[in-house]
Amino acid sequence: MFGSGFMGKVHTEAIRRLGNVEVAAVASHTQELADEFARSMNIPKATGDYREILADPTIDAVHIGTPNNLHYPMAEAALKAGKHVLCEKPLTMTSAEGKKLIKLAASTKLVTAVNHNLRYYPLVQQVRQMIAAGDLGDILIVNGTYYQDWLLYDTDFNWRVQTSDNGTLRAMGDIGSHWMDMIQHVTGLKISALCADLATFHKTRKKPQGAVETFTGKKAKANAKYTEIPIDTDDFGSVLLKLGDRARGCFAVSQMSAGCKNRFNFEVYGTKSGVAWNQERPDELWIGHRNSPNQIIIKDGSLMMPQAAPFADLPGGHSEGYDDAHKQLFKRFYAKIADPSVPVNFPTFEDGTWGMHLLEKVLESSKKQRWVNA
Ligand SMILES: NC(=O)c1ccc[n+]([C@@H]2O[C@H](COP(=O)([O-])OP(=O)(O)OC[C@H]3O[C@@H](n4cnc5c(N)ncnc54)[C@H](O)[C@@H]3O)[C@@H](O)[C@H]2O)c1
Repeated sequence: MFGSGFMGKVHTEAIRRLGNVEVAAVASHTQELADEFARSMNIPKATGDYREILADPTIDAVHIGTPNNLHYPMAEAALKAGKHVLCEKPLTMTSAEGKKLIKLAASTKLVTAVNHNLRYYPLVQQVRQMIAAGDLGDILIVNGTYYQDWLLYDTDFNWRVQTSDNGTLRAMGDIGSHWMDMIQHVTGLKISALCADLATFHKTRKKPQGAVETFTGKKAKANAKYTEIPIDTDDFGSVLLKLGDRARGCFAVSQMSAGCKNRFNFEVYGTKSGVAWNQERPDELWIGHRNSPNQIIIKDGSLMMPQAAPFADLPGGHSEGYDDAHKQLFKRFYAKIADPSVPVNFPTFEDGTWGMHLLEKVLESSKKQRWVNA
């Protein structure tokens, strides 16, 4: 495990639930951070230098859960060291880096994946299968938001607000990348053109001395000392979309919407029916009809479509959420490692690189304040 923050913990716990994979070592920013994490999670080996883990021939795969600027060098070094790689999103800082990783991975037999885990909520898979089966008809309209509030104040700080660690796009890169991946995954349509508008409401933020791990800002503020630094990453962004050659839509992302903790929702409307799903109520799916009563269905594998049911491991009425979505993705990643003949059933470096390309188009469009083709 590379990284010992929010994702370090989520990945470690999800990997252990698979039953056939051991978390053998953790690398963090410093030896102290790695030791502390290894102690708390009962991991046998800890290091402040990830290269030590890559030099260990007993390690088969690495999970990259570090700030975005480290994804490319870590993934490249891991592939060169012969390790399978599961990398957090956004895959890289640029699509050019993503292309280099695809080329490198293609010269090996290694398995690579990008962690668009949100695809693997059971009812999201139900939506995907409903659309594939034609239940919604031809897709006409998509819309949605991904809103959070943890960076609302100018005293809220995280490595993500700095271009050097995060890349140029923050709210868009962090959560817009998930939204765009999701809408393409469920509809099977690719984004073909977009028109974006980005906003940075806090032109400066107060940076505390010392590291701040994700979502810990609210707790950390009391005695902190700050340095005021300029900010040019986006707090908010909205995008008009064309998908394929017919569908239209729009979405917005924000890390400054009070009260929204992780409000990721999407709606899809076709020529027959519509669906709406909200990550804050993941076991419910709204299905809208024109000529019969609307429905709200509850996650229940025994009643879901056969291709979606394997993503629900617990019986109906037993909630499956964020942690479970990671587990479902990791399960399929490690199944591919164990048996190369099984089909790829997880987001690939190609998906991650396409995501980076779309983010670059979002930035280009916002700068030009006009539509661009993807
Ligand atoms: N898929 C998801 O749902 C999801 C959710 C949150 C974050 N993420 C992604 O996961 C990544 C990490 O985000 P986070 O929220 O866990 O951040 P975080 O700040 O909580 O953790 C980052 C960790 O990386 C460590 N680190 C920094 N430099 C390092 C180095 N040189 N070697 C090893 N470790 C180093 C830090 O010490 C820290 O433990 C980001 O790319 C983010 O976009 C994905």
